[in-house]
Amino acid sequence: MDVIPRILDLAREWIGAAVRPGDLAIDATVGNGHDTAFLANRVGPEGRVVGLDIQRSALERTAARLARLGLRDRVELVEQGHEHLDAWFQASGVSARPRAVMFNLGYLPGGDHAVITRPSTTLLALDAALSLVSADGLITVVAYPGHPGGPEELGAVMEWARSLPAHQAHAVCHRALNTSKPAPVLVAIARHEPDWHRVRGSG
Ligand SMILES: C[S@@+](CC[C@H](N)C(=O)[O-])C[C@H]1O[C@@H](n2cnc3c(N)ncnc32)[C@H](O)[C@@H]1O
Repeated sequence: MDVIPRILDLAREWIGAAVRPGDLAIDATVGNGHDTAFLANRVGPEGRVVGLDIQRSALERTAARLARLGLRDRVELVEQGHEHLDAWFQASGVSARPRAVMFNLGYLPGGDHAVITRPSTTLLALDAALSLVSADGLITVVAYPGHPGGPEELGAVMEWARSLPAHQAHAVCHRALNTSKPAPVLVAIARHEPDWHRVRGSG
């Protein structure tokens, strides 16, 4: 691996550091299931992953991938937009809080490039993810400015992350600078422990 990891590897590295065996994790954009499989490996046999996508073909490909890897049992695949994340959680009765939520925006590689994530629904999902994620949890978003609609969505995600109160979350972004094409951007949001200020203040 390069000294500076590629952006999808970096997202997995950070998520991997947050997620522990037995955790609940969410893949908010299942796609071809690479991140879903990664999360399923990290949570282990006692953990659980919930994956959402609006395209049945994506969920089918992912189900097959997970079955091949022996990971199917620990993943719930949901054919719904991530903007319904909150409602899905309330209806499902799942009480555990997710330790991590991964977003990989844009279109399905090998699928219909006209079906893309959209700023309005992405922002709803990010709000839901932030309210659901555990106190020491992590959200990652990989956004792609290289396709039509991509720059607007990246702008909306950056603005959303910038506006988060610093006492609630730590938001960062990572992007390659010297690329010939618009480079994807990784935005990561770490929730603070609820008593983070008190603990720091007393130290
Ligand atoms: C770049 S792909 C995800 C790649 C995936 N993480 C992987 O590891 O293969 C983006 C996915 O987002 C899905 N998508 C688009 N709008 C969505 C929405 N509102 N909710 C959930 N998924 C959505 C697309 O169908 C597509 O499969």
